[in-house]
Amino acid sequence: MRKPIIAGNWKMYKTASQAKEFVEKVNGLVPDAEKLDSVICAPALYLTQLVDAAENSALKIGAQTMHDKGEGAFTGEISPVQLADIGVSYVIIGHSERRQYFNETDETVNAKVKSAFSHQLTPILCVGETDEQREAGQMESIVESQVEKAVEGLTDAQIAELVIAYEPIWAIGTGKTATAEDANEACGIVRKKIVSLYSDETAEKVRIQYGGSVKPANIQELLSMEHIDGALVGGASLETESFVKLLEAGS
Ligand code: G3H
Repeated sequence: MRKPIIAGNWKMYKTASQAKEFVEKVNGLVPDAEKLDSVICAPALYLTQLVDAAENSALKIGAQTMHDKGEGAFTGEISPVQLADIGVSYVIIGHSERRQYFNETDETVNAKVKSAFSHQLTPILCVGETDEQREAGQMESIVESQVEKAVEGLTDAQIAELVIAYEPIWAIGTGKTATAEDANEACGIVRKKIVSLYSDETAEKVRIQYGGSVKPANIQELLSMEHIDGALVGGASLETESFVKLLEAGS
């Protein structure tokens, strides 16, 4: 059985003191790591502080992006070596906001996913279609193509460790959640693509999250679906109370 994974993505929200206060508050309320993987992906600026604050808790800390190179003359960037060195466990790769505003492409996403694995970081790979693409009946082909390009060159063992977040762009921050059936259908398409590229056995291991306006009121139904193994949550991960409710639903 796949262990569920609930990850909060704080995006560019919270000051240092708010971030630390949040982690100190939820530390003792995080479910056992045997039942659930619980993650907060925070702004890079606070990662060291939050890794320290979560030291004795089951909460893991993740980054929201990274460069694919270990080091170099890349002003303003953060490397996987640096993330691993401070104790970061996860890194979101290819979030639609990165693809849309920061020129990330299927090629850079693939390079970053491979680099994350080389540096003992677990990538949370994001895929998902726009409203126009869905309306045009292209959801399946877009999602399949994003998955195929992002995982190129990965081994079976890496795929088994990979987390893929299906996030329809039209559902992000809009309050418009995909129905549990639609979300499950898309996550099933992701899994089927992994079957075709690898094997049934490997595809059974990959964890697939749904993301897009997930909140305490809808998470239970989403998690009850066959192909949904967790959630990548923006807005509802910013308040301790709702984040803890999401973790409880996942455990
Ligand atoms: O990474 C998280 C997603 O972009 C979802 O954000 O829960 O605010 O819709 P949201």
